[in-house]
Amino acid sequence: MLAKIITSCVLGVEALPVEVEVDVVFGLPSFSTVGLAEGAVRESKDRVKAAIKNSGYPFPDKKITVNLAPADIKKVGTGFDLPIALGILAAETIVATKQLKDYSVVGELALDGFVRPIPGILPMVIAARDSGHKGIIVPEGNAEEAAVVKEIDVIGIRYLHQAVDFLSETLSLPPSNINPQVLHGNHKSYEVDFSDVKGQEHVKRALEVAAAGGHNILLTGPPGSGKTMLARRLPTILPDLTFDEALETTKIYSVCGLLNERSGLMTQRPFRAPHHTISDAGLIGGGNIPRPGEVSLAHNGILFLDELPEFKKNVLEVLRQPLEDGKVTIARASSTLTFPARFVLVAALNPCPCGHAGDSNHSCTCSPLQIKRYEDRLSGPLLDRIDIHLQVPAVPFHQVASIEEGENSKSIKERVVSARILQRQRFQGKKKIYSNSQMSNRDLKKFCSLDTTSLNLLEKGMAQLGLSARAYHRILKISRTIADLSGSQTIKSAHIAEAIQYRRLDRNLFHQNS
Ligand SMILES: Nc1ncnc2c1ncn2[C@@H]1O[C@H](COP(=O)(O)OP(=O)(O)O)[C@@H](O)[C@H]1O
Ligand SMILES: [Mg+2]
Ligand SMILES: [Zn+2]
Repeated sequence: MLAKIITSCVLGVEALPVEVEVDVVFGLPSFSTVGLAEGAVRESKDRVKAAIKNSGYPFPDKKITVNLAPADIKKVGTGFDLPIALGILAAETIVATKQLKDYSVVGELALDGFVRPIPGILPMVIAARDSGHKGIIVPEGNAEEAAVVKEIDVIGIRYLHQAVDFLSETLSLPPSNINPQVLHGNHKSYEVDFSDVKGQEHVKRALEVAAAGGHNILLTGPPGSGKTMLARRLPTILPDLTFDEALETTKIYSVCGLLNERSGLMTQRPFRAPHHTISDAGLIGGGNIPRPGEVSLAHNGILFLDELPEFKKNVLEVLRQPLEDGKVTIARASSTLTFPARFVLVAALNPCPCGHAGDSNHSCTCSPLQIKRYEDRLSGPLLDRIDIHLQVPAVPFHQVASIEEGENSKSIKERVVSARILQRQRFQGKKKIYSNSQMSNRDLKKFCSLDTTSLNLLEKGMAQLGLSARAYHRILKISRTIADLSGSQTIKSAHIAEAIQYRRLDRNLFHQNS
């Protein structure tokens, strides 16, 4: 007899419905799977067979054919185990078929019939809902994550026999009942706070500007000056994730299997700090079965690249597209996938190989050639996409010990949130702009007009510092954000004066003080 079960398969960060057809007929006993099944799917046969037997059902001594349709998409992962097992049992009339069309089914089977959680549940549930299913049967370990999606019944099960009984209507299981809005409201506080940072007021201020306008930022300073410490605290002053942002980011973590069981929805902005040995595929995503990379895991949060010059040049090159478009496209022979990747980039580096160029407490031991090589490692196009350049001087230890606690993240965040509200109003109706950092030169003309005093100041400052035309546009953008932070519609000369400070390094990135 032929049975059909609907399941789904993740492609990128979306899922597609897949029909599992199981045909069980008299003949030489065999078990074959067709329909572009990859490694783990082909291996599912052994798990399915053991799980059926160990759950106390007879395994048919017949010719079994499993077809996964549509045949043109690669089927990957272990989530097909449960639908295949239920399909076999349905073909043998052990499972009643009446309810099969109403439920989508996903889950991996252990040999004893236990149903193991799988990655990518969130997009699968969204796909099941969008194709009009009444419910979806998922591993109990995924139920909380799945229940974030509204307008579909999520049935969490622990064992194969529970799914059999539920579909045969001899066991009633209530749908998981989670209010996603409540989950979203359970915003966990961050473990770190800006009040931990002693002194460094100008760096904290620059990070506030970066957070307010979504500006990428480059921190240059000697080892131990607190660059990593400061960067880690940037998420704590960004506005809370909206529900839609939380869902977008959670989807990516779901696909990568990085959600822990207890948190169905990500409520904190991600902070990703990949090591400089990372490959280009690790950074932007890819692989045989394309998976999101670090830029996507940082979606709606922060990507921190520590020791920037240590990253391979080809790796930094691939950052261009996400920095420009807020997404990455990965082309494959069969298909093209797009992953979201909108983040604020924080990059940090030592001013020279030994770390002490421009440091008043230590002298630099690097040769000019060493420094030249070090500088050459930085990619120009990447630096071009970083609005704010900042020096982070070392705070002497006695000062760290004596300075009192700084302003906390909560009150900085309040200013950032107000500035973001102004930006939202400004860019209303513009599709691709969320923050000042994304303004094009044409937007700059419209939104950043200067009065004569400010214009004169800007011209004078640029001439004095020898800044380029490129720096001019950056300064306008940053001053727009600074004006927003102070609630000012117009850009005043004080805003320009502060913005110029964040481009001083254009003149010479490394040897300001030497
Ligand atoms: N301004 C500061 N206030 C408090 N602690 C600091 C400060 N700067 C540095 N530290 C301490 O020094 C450590 C090293 O800082 P780190 O962020 O790793 O420096 P970097 O990344 O610039 O090498 C931090 O973990 C922190 O304990
Ligand atoms: Mg560091
Ligand atoms: Zn040096």
